[in-house]
Amino acid sequence: MSKPRIIAIDGPAASGKTTLARRLAQALGYAFFDTGVLYRAVTWAALQKGEDLQDEARMTLLARTLDVELRITETGETLVWLQGRDATQELYSPQVDAWVSVVAAHPGVRQALKDVQRRLALQGHIVVVGRDIGTVIVPEADMKIYLDASLEERARRRYEEARRKGHSVTLEQVLKDMARRDALDASRATAPLRPAEDAYVLQTNGLSADEVFEKVMQWMRKKFPNSNKTPAPSATS
Ligand code: CDP
Repeated sequence: MSKPRIIAIDGPAASGKTTLARRLAQALGYAFFDTGVLYRAVTWAALQKGEDLQDEARMTLLARTLDVELRITETGETLVWLQGRDATQELYSPQVDAWVSVVAAHPGVRQALKDVQRRLALQGHIVVVGRDIGTVIVPEADMKIYLDASLEERARRRYEEARRKGHSVTLEQVLKDMARRDALDASRATAPLRPAEDAYVLQTNGLSADEVFEKVMQWMRKKFPNSNKTPAPSATS
């Protein structure tokens, strides 16, 4: 084997997973699958329908029957089509942000979304990003990375990102929301956020995107020593 078949990246919000995943996917020519969009899609649909998001049975039914289509673009974005139209942008609204971890904590919802994630991941040559990819969705992934950073640093990153997008939020607000989401993700009974035992763990405080990418590539070259070598010419040629 010269390259990992499946790269799993887990970690809390704004720990740098998406940036790293995009760069790895580009460097290796792999697809990139951001599993968070599925939980966001269920949350979005529940809000649209005015459903009770605390009701596990209702949310599970919605997750099972959701008319969702994922399209991975050439630039590696996961576009989400819901009810026949591209709803990707709406999945990142403050309202979805506020509720998604409540919906994602329902065991029935997680179970309903497991198969589609596994099926896509097992196609291979893919970087899969989430909270429980290395622990629950594809424990057989052959390269697992867990990114982390302090709450303050992650909130600052997310705040700057929101400001760049023109959203009017305060750093204090972002920090509070993120702390609440972290607590929900880490304390839920089913598939809580934690590194897999065989994951490479990286604290990204103060590291640039380049430095994170380089560190992971170093680990990967060590684990898959042939990953950058061109094949040797055959003896008969
Ligand atoms: O980028 P950010 O962390 O803000 O959001 P995301 O990755 O889209 O995930 C949104 C939420 O979905 C997380 O806070 C989790 O509650 C949930 N999630 C999950 O439980 N399992 C996953 N594999 C992915 C997301």
